[in-house]
Amino acid sequence: MRYPRELLEEIRMQNDIVDIVSQYVPLKQKGSSYFGLCPFHHEKTPSFSVNSEKQFYYCFGCGASGNVYGFLMEMENMDFVEAVKELASRAHITLPEPERSAQVMAAERQKARLLEIHKKAGRFYYDVLQSQQGENARAYMQKRGMQPNAARKFGIGYAPDSRHALYDFLTQSGYSVEDLRLSGLILADKSGEGYHDRFRNRLMFPIFDAQARVVGFGGRILDKGEPKYLNSPETPLFSKSRNLYGLHLAKASKRKEFILVEGYMDMFSLYQAGFHNVVASLGTAFNQEHARTLKKYASDVILLYDSDEAGTNAALRAIPVLVENGIRVRVTQVPDGKDPDEYIRQNGAQAFARLLVDAVHYISFQIACIRKQYDLRIPEHKVRFATQAAEILAKLDSEIERNVYTTEVSRMTGVEESALQNEIQKRMRQADESFAQEAQRRRIQRQRQYGEVEKEEAGVIDAQKSLLYFSASHQHIYEILQNILTPEDFPTKAYADAFTAIGTLWAEAGNVFPAELISFFEDAQTQRQITAIFAAQPLEDAEFDLQKAIKEAVTILKRNRIAQEMAQAQTAEQIQACLEEKRKLEALHITI
Ligand code: UTP
Ligand code: MN
Repeated sequence: MRYPRELLEEIRMQNDIVDIVSQYVPLKQKGSSYFGLCPFHHEKTPSFSVNSEKQFYYCFGCGASGNVYGFLMEMENMDFVEAVKELASRAHITLPEPERSAQVMAAERQKARLLEIHKKAGRFYYDVLQSQQGENARAYMQKRGMQPNAARKFGIGYAPDSRHALYDFLTQSGYSVEDLRLSGLILADKSGEGYHDRFRNRLMFPIFDAQARVVGFGGRILDKGEPKYLNSPETPLFSKSRNLYGLHLAKASKRKEFILVEGYMDMFSLYQAGFHNVVASLGTAFNQEHARTLKKYASDVILLYDSDEAGTNAALRAIPVLVENGIRVRVTQVPDGKDPDEYIRQNGAQAFARLLVDAVHYISFQIACIRKQYDLRIPEHKVRFATQAAEILAKLDSEIERNVYTTEVSRMTGVEESALQNEIQKRMRQADESFAQEAQRRRIQRQRQYGEVEKEEAGVIDAQKSLLYFSASHQHIYEILQNILTPEDFPTKAYADAFTAIGTLWAEAGNVFPAELISFFEDAQTQRQITAIFAAQPLEDAEFDLQKAIKEAVTILKRNRIAQEMAQAQTAEQIQACLEEKRKLEALHITI
């Protein structure tokens, strides 16, 4: 563990899990638990619970579980250290410099060098654009209406038409060829002897990350030619399926609604015209990682893709990705196949603002798209259209939204609302059923991941969980058990470690708080296993015989261990020893 345990615990206690989860999931209180829709799988009825007293979350549907660290790790796609940093900063706790391995430090230094290289390269392209060599590029910019002020803000530059101008500049600045190649800006010649610049004779768009650091480039050809845009390859700094163009500027706009466009120039022109909350996904389909990145800064998106067929299809594919990630989506398009950049240049900012006002709920857009495929005067087309519309409406979680659009489809087709509603209900039931199957499949998958392989009987797992639960709940039970059991009696690795950790907590902290125990384990899978100890706890009411329950569980674990040893025994002495263990077990007496 990189940070001292006390510090991790301090940070965890300063971040109430109910507060943190509520920022992502609306929760309803029931006793000391809160319920909501699980953010980790799609569902219509809440099976996601947050236990305020024990400070962990658990989903009865898909089995997702953990403490506040685990929640952020899954929700924000963070690693453990990132989650610690985030929660520490929310609690205004200053972290000491963590101890890092030599390997991690080397990777960090390399990343820092790559950032420096990109910054220098950006500066280089920028300077070339202002110089005499940049004349054609400046003329091109003027032709496209790119104003100097905005261009400066974007750091627009020009890669000269020379085979290795950037290579020479960067090697003279002292960077190694290895780092230059890793940056993706420099390529080896086919001959294998020399090197050349990736970007030549192109207008350069630096790509910034959310912290406004240059992490890559897109280069547009000045004349006709292929490819029109050349982008940085995947590097340790840049990934086209994660980075969004313009994110640092959109973030600075402090708007919660972002306009999502397809291209560099669309983003640029909109910004220049005063729309500062714009991002573009670059040369790749909008995906889950984009959505998660976006979600950190925006709650609403206006999709503004090109109005040609490719753009419309791309928009239809982006919608579910956004919606699944809890982003509210509206859609708008520019008329007559123009892209947003051309539209705003020809019609001005005011006309463009009207397009934004006209943006429709994504359901209307989806329905309008399928509507185009049918001639509603033909009865058969009506049926097919209404059926397809029902399919779309069945995916809506909100009953109100469903009703509103059902009325609309009914009006469009003349099909009775009740008939549409029946169709929608049928599809919703089908979806629920296949969800139940999917949840079951996931539960099994997770169990396998835990290492709870099938041959390990359910009884053995339950026995481990209940012994750990009692050990964590009552110190005197732990003390009795640690005289009888060793970690090796727990066949599941995480549970053996948990038994040791519980001992440490009793000795050092004087109590065992479930969420603190979970913090002993950094990887999300193990955290889930540990949470499972507390998730389904036995009721200790008047009828409950604690002593008997503990004895039974101990017997199961001991028998299991003896059986394993017996199976592996090779000498007479070993078999003798096993038999001796077995006799001892029969005589075992536990008094609580
Ligand atoms: P478009 O072909 O629609 O270009 O590609 P555009 O944005 O209108 O560009 P201009 O106005 O002619 O300059 C949309 C986006 O797809 C990516 C770029 O991100 C581009 O902005 N793309 C396109 C590439 O990455 N490579 C290409 O060769 C073409
Ligand atoms: Mn364009």
